[in-house]
Amino acid sequence: MKYNPIFEPVKINPGQFVMVWIPGSDEIPMSVSHISKNSKISISVADVGETTHLMHQLKIGDQIGIRGPYGNWFTAQNGTSIVIGGGIGMASVLSIAQNLSNLKNNPEKIKIDKIICINGAKTKSELYFNQELQKILKSNDSLEICTDDGSFGFKGFTTEKLKEILNNEKSNVITVYACGPEKMLKTVFQICEDHNKIPVQLSLERMMRCGFGICGLCALEPTGLLVCQDGPIFTNEILREITDFGKIHRDFSGKTYNI
Ligand SMILES: Cc1cc2nc3c(=O)[nH]c(=O)nc-3n(C[C@H](O)[C@H](O)[C@H](O)COP(=O)(O)OP(=O)(O)OC[C@H]3O[C@@H](n4cnc5c(N)ncnc54)[C@H](O)[C@@H]3O)c2cc1C
Ligand code: FES
Repeated sequence: MKYNPIFEPVKINPGQFVMVWIPGSDEIPMSVSHISKNSKISISVADVGETTHLMHQLKIGDQIGIRGPYGNWFTAQNGTSIVIGGGIGMASVLSIAQNLSNLKNNPEKIKIDKIICINGAKTKSELYFNQELQKILKSNDSLEICTDDGSFGFKGFTTEKLKEILNNEKSNVITVYACGPEKMLKTVFQICEDHNKIPVQLSLERMMRCGFGICGLCALEPTGLLVCQDGPIFTNEILREITDFGKIHRDFSGKTYNI
């Protein structure tokens, strides 16, 4: 995985993404994982297929194309913040965790009481950003680490940890920010709905081609909303309407598969 500042962008917000073109391969969506004080951004790439593998081979001086930023962004809310990342999904929520921490230290309009991060992966080697999170979190904040196989931290899913946290949480002003596999997001959503409809901001990662509302590949049934243009971050009201949420995966041809 690479974690290096790559270019000076226009104004960009936590949760937005860019389309990255690798000459000779493909153009793929990547979340902005870090926004520095002088507005340099970073992306963080998990090596999962052809294009991401080529990205891991890049050397300083190689040329790539980047367009964006695209999509909406996380918005910080008062109270207790629970930030959940599943696997490389942590890349998308890392910058809102940083943003919440900055706001907590310099409260103006938004008052953040506490930040709880849940970082989960299948196994220890797929856990990203623990060191970065430890630097971001302060005083009464906490970091919970989960692995499906128990190779590090709590043995179990992030969603089990979320349930445990919510059952013990005294505050009733809570917002949950999350990104990860869609099945995980669906369970996060159901848990939050069952806990007095806790507000969520969930970043969906559907297959994308154009990234700005032309090809229709990232459409959410039956709303017709597009993840690239109307998302990637969706809140409770819209998530309640999406019938294929957590159920399907679409390939580049548009064909759907059950997940
Ligand atoms: C809004 C958004 C933000 C993302 N942010 C990041 C990020 O910060 N870091 C990161 O490593 N990955 C991120 N992804 C996922 C990343 O785009 C895919 O992993 C990548 O496109 C895979 O390309 P590939 O050619 O290497 O793999 P392929 O050989 O094409 O496929 C490998 C696997 O990745 C899945 N995949 C392929 N293309 C996509 C796609 N466009 N969207 C989702 N899954 C896909 C395939 O179904 C397959 O399981 C993001 C996806 C979206 C939609
Ligand atoms: S990726 Fe083309 S419409 Fe969303």
